[in-house]
Amino acid sequence: MTPEATETEKPAAGRQAAETDWATALLGNDGRLVHAARLAAIGEIAAGIAHEMNQPLAAIQMIVTSMLADIERGTLPTERARQWLDTVNEQIGRISWIIGHLRSFSRGEGAEPPAAVALGEIVENTLGLLGAQLRSHGIVVELDLEAPLPEVRGSARRLEQVLVNLLSNARDALDTLPNDAPKAVRIRAYAPPGQDPVVIEVADTGPGMSTEVRERLFEPFFTTKGAAQGTGLGLSIVRTIVDECGGHVAVESKPGVGATFRIELPAATPAHAQSGKEPIP
Ligand SMILES: Nc1ncnc2c1ncn2[C@@H]1O[C@H](COP(=O)(O)OP(=O)(O)O)[C@@H](O)[C@H]1O
Ligand SMILES: [Mg+2]
Repeated sequence: MTPEATETEKPAAGRQAAETDWATALLGNDGRLVHAARLAAIGEIAAGIAHEMNQPLAAIQMIVTSMLADIERGTLPTERARQWLDTVNEQIGRISWIIGHLRSFSRGEGAEPPAAVALGEIVENTLGLLGAQLRSHGIVVELDLEAPLPEVRGSARRLEQVLVNLLSNARDALDTLPNDAPKAVRIRAYAPPGQDPVVIEVADTGPGMSTEVRERLFEPFFTTKGAAQGTGLGLSIVRTIVDECGGHVAVESKPGVGATFRIELPAATPAHAQSGKEPIP
């Protein structure tokens, strides 16, 4: 990682002060941006949800159709009916999980005080909402989650919003590649030994970005996408949420070689207490 290739969340002092005022005005006091951002994230996952629901609905429809045909013919043994209905129940459970999760995702900010959260679950839940959509865009999702991983302190829904934003950006970036190009997103989470922060990285094999874009991408309303696609809010929200957790976000990218977003989050329990070992001096 070369210094020129890295833009951290610490912009020039003047810009940072201006953005802090901006964030306080919109995020802290009247919450308008929080609402806009949540709506933007919900918009992002709406298409994903349609994909996620499609599969269990198709399975239920197939089973119901077969059962009706068997009943017509008078050839439906109770045992087979029971097995099929069990499967229908499972699929309904899957749909309720998606709906319930979307609801908790869109609920107000005050609903969830910061707690110790497991990043593995955050990743799993986010992929439960967006995974099928990514696959339908021809994107391979690679997971590399260290286990066990120390919990971090934050709001699960807010951290899911971080991942939704990073994954949607990766999807948009990968969508600009030619159809036959390999498209992958890698989510990696690990705890560097003996250190407090837990790291989560989202890396894509997309076109990457120029230095000009890299320097500005955490600015609110900065977007290189058309008005229909980009709000420019995604990464400013990512930065706000990561800041709230006492963490740090940085991006590493060069044109043509993809982008890696790296987030460090303080562990809910200090490193030496977690591992039961003395910290390395
Ligand atoms: N993974 C990525 N690869 C390339 N460019 C990216 C990536 N993620 C973000 N960007 C750039 O950062 C800009 C800002 O992103 P964001 O704040 O999420 O707003 P939006 O997605 O609405 O444009 C994007 O318009 C894009 O130019
Ligand atoms: Mg975005």
